[in-house]
Amino acid sequence: MKYDIKNINLAKKGSLRIEWASNNMPVLNLIKQRFAKEKPLKGLKIAACLHVTTETGVLGSVLKAGGAQVFIAASNPLSTQDDVAAALVKDSKISVFAIKGEDTKTYYKHIKAVLAASPDITMDDGADLVSTIHSGPASAHSNIIGGTEETTTGVIRLRALAKAGKLRYPIVAVNDALTKHLFDNRYGTGQSTIDGIIRATNKLLAGSNFVVCGYGWCGKGAGLRADGLGAKVIVVEVDPLRALEASMDGFRVMPIKEAARIGDIFVTVTGDINVIRKEHFKIMQDGAIVCNSGHFNVELDIAGLKKLSIRKKIIRDFVEEYILKDGRKLYLLGEGRLINLAAAEGHPASVMDMSFANQALCAEYMAKNYKRLKNQVYKVPEDIDSKIASLKLRSLGIKIDTLTKEQKKYLSSWEMGT
Ligand code: ADE
Repeated sequence: MKYDIKNINLAKKGSLRIEWASNNMPVLNLIKQRFAKEKPLKGLKIAACLHVTTETGVLGSVLKAGGAQVFIAASNPLSTQDDVAAALVKDSKISVFAIKGEDTKTYYKHIKAVLAASPDITMDDGADLVSTIHSGPASAHSNIIGGTEETTTGVIRLRALAKAGKLRYPIVAVNDALTKHLFDNRYGTGQSTIDGIIRATNKLLAGSNFVVCGYGWCGKGAGLRADGLGAKVIVVEVDPLRALEASMDGFRVMPIKEAARIGDIFVTVTGDINVIRKEHFKIMQDGAIVCNSGHFNVELDIAGLKKLSIRKKIIRDFVEEYILKDGRKLYLLGEGRLINLAAAEGHPASVMDMSFANQALCAEYMAKNYKRLKNQVYKVPEDIDSKIASLKLRSLGIKIDTLTKEQKKYLSSWEMGT
């Protein structure tokens, strides 16, 4: 079995941590039991490009229980948990190609290594796997029947590929399931972003000006949780509707050029490039902290920051101190990569339970339905989404009501009014 990881001797620690995550992933465990009986993925090779975390470890074991052969590359150079990579190789016999801190060349070498397995299904987080496939000749991976995509950024890239008429196989946008983005993007990113900032800096958030750039579901989560810790949240947006939402959620809204002057901590979660630029670093307060929790490290103009600086040093793990020509110091966290996975452990297992339940069930859906699907980006079927919500509720011991006959009739009629 081929693999490329940091150190196989870390496996024991990794397997205990995967066990801990699994204890908080009841929905995925139910799917695993069924998969073990029905083997819906029998004979299929799945190439995954995912953050190598304890939660991904649990997903890997579910796919294997379903009969698949699994190959995993990291979906970010800084997000790999090396002990998990070791446990997956040693205990689960999953081919993992991922080392925390790998350079860009190694990152793509690892992506190519999972593709060398000639996969039938791709499972992506950010669409680097799919974009690597589509940068090569169409003949190269013609046996792929379909894929899934985990995140907003990846879905945007795939829709662009499909719109250009170039997508070579059907892909399900897991991100767009309600049981994914309403929970993972909001509560997952919300908590893990704050977790990453605190683990990296040990700063007190209470009373600080906390600037959130982007008020999508991830930005909403980060704002909500920073607010909960007593920070004074400022939102930067380009979309009028989202800006209005932020304002009515109780936050100050202003352009980045104003926020830059007063922010103590800045987080970008927009999915776009160069959101905080040189001209903004120029006017920031001495001691300001800047980080990103969006998928790619493109949201901060780090080259611009470097140009303003005379030197930099690593002052703590995941904290780089940039000393500017005028003597001010600015702090960049996690090299501008997603801070929640670079300095913390990503989203907690109980929220990844739903995201990865979607991944497992959509892989099964693809295996069963690929023949009738076109080369398009598909929504997660509604029955999968609502099944996951019901299972999650049941696992939480939460019961809900059902409509009475009279209520159902009322909702399907038009006659009854004032
Ligand atoms: N994305 C965000 N958090 C994650 C986690 N814990 N595991 C895998 N992917 C993630």
